[in-house]
Amino acid sequence: MSSSLEFVTIFTLLVASYLLSVVHCGNFYDDVEIQWGGGHGKIFDNGKLLSLSLDKYSGSGFQSKSKYLFGRLDIQMKLVPGNSAGTVTTFYLSSDGPATDPNHDEIDFEFLGNLTGEPYTLHTNVFANGKGDKEMQFHLWFDPTKNFHTYSILWNPQHIIFLVDNIPIRDFKNHDSMGVPFPKTQPMRLYSSIWDAEEWATRGGLIKTDWSKAPFTAYYQNFNVDACVWYSTSGISSCASKNSMDSMASKNAWFFEEMDNASYRRMRWVQRKYMIYNYCSDVKRYPRGRPRECRLR
Ligand SMILES: *[C@@H]1O[C@H](CO)[C@@H](O)[C@H](O)[C@H]1NC(C)=O
Ligand SMILES: *[C@@H]1O[C@H](CO)[C@@H](O)[C@H](O)[C@H]1NC(C)=O
Repeated sequence: MSSSLEFVTIFTLLVASYLLSVVHCGNFYDDVEIQWGGGHGKIFDNGKLLSLSLDKYSGSGFQSKSKYLFGRLDIQMKLVPGNSAGTVTTFYLSSDGPATDPNHDEIDFEFLGNLTGEPYTLHTNVFANGKGDKEMQFHLWFDPTKNFHTYSILWNPQHIIFLVDNIPIRDFKNHDSMGVPFPKTQPMRLYSSIWDAEEWATRGGLIKTDWSKAPFTAYYQNFNVDACVWYSTSGISSCASKNSMDSMASKNAWFFEEMDNASYRRMRWVQRKYMIYNYCSDVKRYPRGRPRECRLR
């Protein structure tokens, strides 16, 4: 009840001011910049392909030129093959400032490498108002190093949906009205990186990075953004325009997207078969009862 009331409020605000999103398709030169790594990150094929590498000296990373306040972001990735133990490849949205910022918001996909033939772990998390601790981890139903697969974040005022090859694997709902923070006021940028996390990534740090296999390289293509772009100078979003609500709804299905029963069933399938960790069922961690959002539907 209160959640739908809140939705109405957000909805009204948005209808009043934000009406058109910006769609960008797939040229890395236009949409991102290599942010760090001294030559370990590269864009090639006229902007169609990007690679990030890690060796003993450095990892690398890129970030989107724009910031977004809600959107659907898709990227295809091919992860480091062979012995990738100790490496972490990421794709995430983050608000400005350090992760220790009390208002920090973040939506994470992280791929933890593994020994040859052992499965990667896909780690997901959501930070809102500086609070994370909402980890869910999965194995994948395919080998993510053989081909490109699509990883997507759908972030609208009511849901954060994580998708793999268009199959939802996680739906973090807006339960703000029940006192569970949800990222919805700060614009975020997309970041991606590869770095060495041998201290914790593979079986809690037991398996170290094998530097004789470096450089470790992950590839990216077909970056697609359908989002409300934030203009920092004016503090407004590209979704501010005079189009009608119908146009918003028809052009921007992602903005109002909810999971239908079929998507919900597919998500349940993934969670039953491939989820290896869910903070909501970690009774050791929460002996005095599970976090509130875990008890809400
Ligand atoms: C690595 O493989 C082991 C054995 O299959 C598995 O238990 C673990 O979850 C995998 N991932 C990481 C990051 O260790
Ligand atoms: C989804 O499933 C529920 C419960 O099984 C049902 O009541 C509802 O009508 C279904 N919705 C749609 C859109 O099919």
